[in-house]
Amino acid sequence: MADRAPARVPSGAADPSEYDHDALDLYVQRLFAREDDALRRTRERADEAGMPRIQLPLATARALQLLVRAAGVRRAVEVGTLAGYSAIWIARALPEDGELVTLEISAKHAAVARRSLEDAGVADRVEVRVGDAAELLDALGPDGSFGLVFVDADKERYTQYLEAAARLLRPGGLFVADNAFWKGWVLDPGVDELAAVLDRFNRTVADDPRFDATILPVGDGLLVGVRRG
Ligand code: SAH
Ligand code: DHB
Ligand code: MG
Repeated sequence: MADRAPARVPSGAADPSEYDHDALDLYVQRLFAREDDALRRTRERADEAGMPRIQLPLATARALQLLVRAAGVRRAVEVGTLAGYSAIWIARALPEDGELVTLEISAKHAAVARRSLEDAGVADRVEVRVGDAAELLDALGPDGSFGLVFVDADKERYTQYLEAAARLLRPGGLFVADNAFWKGWVLDPGVDELAAVLDRFNRTVADDPRFDATILPVGDGLLVGVRRG
């Protein structure tokens, strides 16, 4: 009788829940998310400035970039610039006349980011604004004029940023949030304060009738919500 077992590597898992997701993330990264010199220098500058290594992982950055392309985003806003790494990925997916406004509370981070955005040749498309994102978002408009709101800053304020996104996004526009899995701890939200925060946030988005949403299981979990019309 023929062997009906699915083809797989000798060490492979029988069920997708048992896959080695870290190894598969690396596989995707090697095939689809290669860095150029400007992105590598951006990470080096961040290290030299003593910034935490919390930029988007490569496979996550690539997924976000393709979402921007697929949704035909022309105007984008990012919450949490750090060294400008994710901003470069987003900006490169925008049309020539597109624009990204990226919000950063640390003037030091913003200064490092501006150098990297220059270096990557996207400074004409990206504006770094320094201040508290909650206030800076309130000043953005007009309503319904953005194709992307990407949040990757203070996790306690994600729900507040969701409200700003609901106002700023056009129908079909994307609300994207990094760290939806919070290192996997959302499965055990009692273990960590931020795990509970992100678990509540994920549930809020899941139940929000203004968005069709899911979490893409790339990196630390990329929550994606499409603004309904
Ligand atoms: N998106 C970046 C990483 C962002 S790290 C990348 O992938 O390359 C989070 C950043 O958010 C930090 O630089 C931090 O200073 C900033 N931040 C934290 N709280 C903020 C707030 N309330 N308003 C604006 N920026 C904030
Ligand atoms: C942390 C923040 C992030 O946005 C991230 O992607 C990874 C880690 C942190 O604060 O530890
Ligand atoms: Mg993050």
